[in-house]
Amino acid sequence: MGMSFPATRLRRLRSSEALRRAFAETSLDPGDLIAPLFLKEGIREPVPIASMPRQYQHTIESLVKEARSLASKGVAGMMLFGIPEHKDPEGTEAWNAGGITQRGIRALKDELGDEALVIADLCLCEYTDHGHCGILKGDTVDNDPTIEAYGQVAVSQAEAGADLVAPSGMMDGQVRAIRSALDSSGKEMTPILAYSTKFASAFYGPFRDAAEGAPRFGDRRSYQEDPANLEEAVREALLDVEEGADALVVKPATSYLDVVRAVKEATGYPLVAYNVSGEYSMLLAAAEKGYLDERAATLEVLTSIRRAGADLVLTYHASKAAEWLA
Ligand code: PBG
Repeated sequence: MGMSFPATRLRRLRSSEALRRAFAETSLDPGDLIAPLFLKEGIREPVPIASMPRQYQHTIESLVKEARSLASKGVAGMMLFGIPEHKDPEGTEAWNAGGITQRGIRALKDELGDEALVIADLCLCEYTDHGHCGILKGDTVDNDPTIEAYGQVAVSQAEAGADLVAPSGMMDGQVRAIRSALDSSGKEMTPILAYSTKFASAFYGPFRDAAEGAPRFGDRRSYQEDPANLEEAVREALLDVEEGADALVVKPATSYLDVVRAVKEATGYPLVAYNVSGEYSMLLAAAEKGYLDERAATLEVLTSIRRAGADLVLTYHASKAAEWLA
């Protein structure tokens, strides 16, 4: 069989760039990437996010410009996070047809048409004055009224033109509630990209500055998943499929590559992994110090996420990586 040395020399297929390219098992293209973008109401100029180099809180104008640039680099789409001026206990701005997110979605769709996807993050933490992902009862999030509210948010985002809605609040039954709200509003063709397995992670730190959605008290461990749990993560994903999810998200990505693989194998569903803010900022901080090479490290991380089983990667590296992959 020639299965051992010296007949077998695995280095043969590694011995030139052309051989390595031809036999690579995993591909990485701009079309595999989705860029998260932040849109803030009430600012006149884009505001750089201190904890996330090269990322901004955008105005509608700068958002559209960035989206144009991303689309021309061939990325698959963008995930929009809106930050309203007015916050209240229920997060009512989240389903205002004239709200900042809805205006952003419209502006993006006008610019992009079918060139790239506009995905709406669907949560309440950017809209509530307490920063939790839903409506409170005492000091915990009340599940069932919250998913009703999510249904309204989904309809308003779909009506604004979102190609997909992406519920990230980790409430039980959220996918079913959103599917039924969309269906009864004539939006039965709007797909749901469900963050089915979202862990209570320290790696969201920089995002909470960017989206101004840090909880004012407590933490999110009564709704987001315990980083220790893989079997539960698979159960979450299977439940979301049963409730009508069209595609799934695992988040964060790099500390959870085993979850990416397990969810892919258990569901066979289209899978997106979210390479979150802390993963991005950590790499860029190390690169800034000269501890590692940004380009090589970034492409290695993104390739690893694809290798683990993600079809698409949501990443703040999207713009740079798409340039490098051109
Ligand atoms: C909240 C939300 C979070 C992220 C996306 N949506 C943070 C959180 O749960 O606190 C994190 C994304 C990132 O860190 O890049 N619905």
